[in-house]
Amino acid sequence: MQCEAEVRRRLQEAGQEQLLRFWAELSAGQRESLLEELQLLEPGELREHCRRAQEAYREESSAPQRLDHRMSPGHPDYMGSVRRSPPEQLQTWEEEGFRQISQDRVAVLLLAGGQGTRLGVTYPKGMYNVGLPSGKTLYQIQAERIRRLQHLAGEKYSTRCTVPWYIMTSEFTLNPTQKFFEAHDFFGIDRADVVMFEQRMLPAVGFDGKAILERKDKVAMAPDGNGGLYRALADNRILEDMEARGIAYIHVYCVDNILVKMADPTFVGFCVSKGADCGAKVVEKSYPSEPVGVVCQVDGVYQVVEYSEISPETAERHNPDGSLTYNAGNICNHFFTLDFLKIMARTLEPRLGYHVAIKKVPYVDAEGNLVKPVRPNGIKMEKFVFDVFQFAQNFVAFEVVREEEFSPLKNADTADKDTPSTSRRALLWQHYRWALRAGARFTDASGCAIAEVSSVPEAEDPPAVCEISPLISYFGEGLDVHLNNRDLTSPFILDIQGV
Ligand code: UD1
Repeated sequence: MQCEAEVRRRLQEAGQEQLLRFWAELSAGQRESLLEELQLLEPGELREHCRRAQEAYREESSAPQRLDHRMSPGHPDYMGSVRRSPPEQLQTWEEEGFRQISQDRVAVLLLAGGQGTRLGVTYPKGMYNVGLPSGKTLYQIQAERIRRLQHLAGEKYSTRCTVPWYIMTSEFTLNPTQKFFEAHDFFGIDRADVVMFEQRMLPAVGFDGKAILERKDKVAMAPDGNGGLYRALADNRILEDMEARGIAYIHVYCVDNILVKMADPTFVGFCVSKGADCGAKVVEKSYPSEPVGVVCQVDGVYQVVEYSEISPETAERHNPDGSLTYNAGNICNHFFTLDFLKIMARTLEPRLGYHVAIKKVPYVDAEGNLVKPVRPNGIKMEKFVFDVFQFAQNFVAFEVVREEEFSPLKNADTADKDTPSTSRRALLWQHYRWALRAGARFTDASGCAIAEVSSVPEAEDPPAVCEISPLISYFGEGLDVHLNNRDLTSPFILDIQGV
């Protein structure tokens, strides 16, 4: 380990020697952990990071970055759609996806390094239980979907296949995620097929261009955004692991969508059939100011423009037929070929720009008191996963049905959108619809029939509660054999023990 003098010299070189200002007060253990943290910060990079953060903050506060005048919706040809494609076409894509999965050519990659600050929990979001009758967490649901998918693809093509699960974590989420998976025996997945790796962290910077101390012996660090994926892939030799397994296609997704269709064969098959190197799933925005990014073109290349980067007027723009001009809501489900990821991680990553976020960052003041600021005081710099779309040779988007595929968990139940309750309801409505389609009828505890309802009032639970294990059904398939012509008492759970 480097000694204090050496670390001090490096910090001086970076213009950040304030990070050692409480040195004299620290215990031996605290000194050791601070040195350990500081020696990882390379002086040239640290200086540049702090300079860039301050500059970005100045630009953002004098003239917020708006991309409106450079945006256009893009040519409709790049977009496939579940709603607008004939069933035979969807089936062909699905078959192609299953074929690739059955040959061990598809992996899923979960972005799980975020801090989940809006939800307000101290543990990783994937460990969250939204209150389903089964008590399953997001991680368990995802694991069971992978297992079911492997089974379906294997059955179709008479193979034993594997969909490896790569999980990008950060300093905040790695340990608890590992422990959680171990405690649950990897939810029945072979642990060799779950590969966790860590993204890098960057110091949070004050408006004066100085990195912030969150404790006397600890720099305030934050993950480098979900676009930190590309550096993390290279740092951890993940692409080599994929190559060794024969993976050609990767479905990247974010942790918080309870309806996520992992390695969705239709989406994978669509992208593969189009010869795409890069693809995104989208849903129609439900209202103009919905906080989702939109897939569109900026200066003629495909990109996602975040909700914070678009003015209300542009978000409100309508086409002559009444539809929203910028309607393709990004649901953070992306398709990449391994070849594309290799080019990104090994060559083009430095060309991805940073996005600036102004946040409240707890800090120690000059007197050494811990302060929880009431107003934003720090700059965090992040890369975004979708910023690579601009480098795609053949970018495609695939529009899916919101009720079937998108219900994110972003906020605590005090909010009215994207909460544990809305996520739970979205899943229970979906399973209720599947059960009815399979021919089930519902009764209450006293045996009275519960009338069927087909529309989905967002704020209400379905009339009957029915939860179906992903181990039994991935997208509503195969339920007739379990549910046709059956009277089910609500609440009803269909899990493998009950089959
Ligand atoms: C994200 C999308 C947004 C989309 C929305 C849909 C990005 C940058 N934005 O927004 O366009 O409409 O989802 O729900 O993708 N993460 C990391 N490391 C980090 C930061 C985040 O792995 O450093 C992960 C999170 O754990 C999460 C995912 O990235 O799984 C999305 O991050 P989040 O901050 O929740 O993005 P949103 O603002 O919701």
